[in-house]
Amino acid sequence: MPDTFVNEVSPLSSPDSGEMAEASDAVMSDPFYKDSTESPATDFDKALRPPDFEEFCGQSKVKERLMLMVEAAKQRGDALDHVLLSGPPGLGKTTLAHILAREFGSQIHCTSGPQIEKAGDLAGILTNLQHGDFLFIDEIHRLHPAIEEYLYPAMEDFQLDIIIDQGPNARSISLSLPPFTLVGATTRAGMLTAPLRSRFGMTNRLDYYTPEDLVRIIKRSANLIDIEIDEGGALEIASRSRGTPRITNNLLRWVRDYAQVKADNAITQSIADKALGMMEIDEDGLDEMDKRILEALIYKFSGGPTGLGTIAVAVGEDESTIEEVYEPYLILQGYLQRTPRGRVAAPAAYRKLGLEVPANQPPDDSQGELFS
Ligand SMILES: Nc1ncnc2c1ncn2[C@@H]1O[C@H](COP(=O)(O)OP(=O)(O)O)[C@@H](O)[C@H]1O
Ligand SMILES: [Mg+2]
Repeated sequence: MPDTFVNEVSPLSSPDSGEMAEASDAVMSDPFYKDSTESPATDFDKALRPPDFEEFCGQSKVKERLMLMVEAAKQRGDALDHVLLSGPPGLGKTTLAHILAREFGSQIHCTSGPQIEKAGDLAGILTNLQHGDFLFIDEIHRLHPAIEEYLYPAMEDFQLDIIIDQGPNARSISLSLPPFTLVGATTRAGMLTAPLRSRFGMTNRLDYYTPEDLVRIIKRSANLIDIEIDEGGALEIASRSRGTPRITNNLLRWVRDYAQVKADNAITQSIADKALGMMEIDEDGLDEMDKRILEALIYKFSGGPTGLGTIAVAVGEDESTIEEVYEPYLILQGYLQRTPRGRVAAPAAYRKLGLEVPANQPPDDSQGELFS
């Protein structure tokens, strides 16, 4: 491939990519985001991001499968098969992509679906890859369909067919690419087209973490940011983090600030409780927006069914953010139900707001589908 592509400013380059490319561990270069649902990775995030499988807590099934896949490919001397990671934001998709590349001893290039606007962007990215490199495409469900078409042969046969020139001079040229591994991440696996999905050798769905796994993550993070925390404090934060490591780490950071100012730098259950209470995060981990969604459903729309768009307007939040960030957890916890006619408040939602459950409510059980 032409050398001129190397280090060229392409959609691959993040603002700090120059620096990253110089560092010997450029594999850890980070993506940048343009997404409503996924907050950008902060320095704090990066500092706490586990570098290898050993430090990556929980998700044991996914982890075992990936570790096996890495070992097998390494033994054969092949590039790793393409991997798709799906699940709500903050569960470790980006982290796993970096771990995979690192375990494989490969360089990782990061971009995201919405950033690849033209076929030329994709061509620039693909022709920049070296043998065995990893390409991480975040929010891969937001790739333009026309660009997906170019990706298929690239994934399957490491072949890129591009059309250059226009009109009578237009001609298609075929470039061969070095074997590479595509790691795709998505919050909406159901939105991926079937042809794209079928080109991944392995698909992994990340689930919300158990409080025990989150406690381990908190202890690890507390150690890294040098704050003392006891078992009760860790459990308190864990049970209020909606099963999500990114939230866990953010809450820990807030509780640390609180402890630093008010409690001699040590986090106990009661300190964590007071700090999180001050942030209006309740004992089940619901925050202000969660409660606004439930309140809107119950007070404004008599419990539903109500369309997502209507709820979004009522609470002043973006539709896709509600659908991808808030709703899955509310459904999982049994506060909300997704029905063909719209969203319905479950009895637990009434109880959460201290209200009596109306007589005509559906039973507490039906959880609906988490991710469409
Ligand atoms: N299994 C895990 N063990 C420890 N920390 C984790 C784990 N998964 C995620 N984290 C933490 O949560 C943060 C967010 O994870 P990330 O990979 O960016 O999530 P996603 O890409 O799925 O939105 C990471 O920076 C990391 O600190
Ligand atoms: Mg991510």
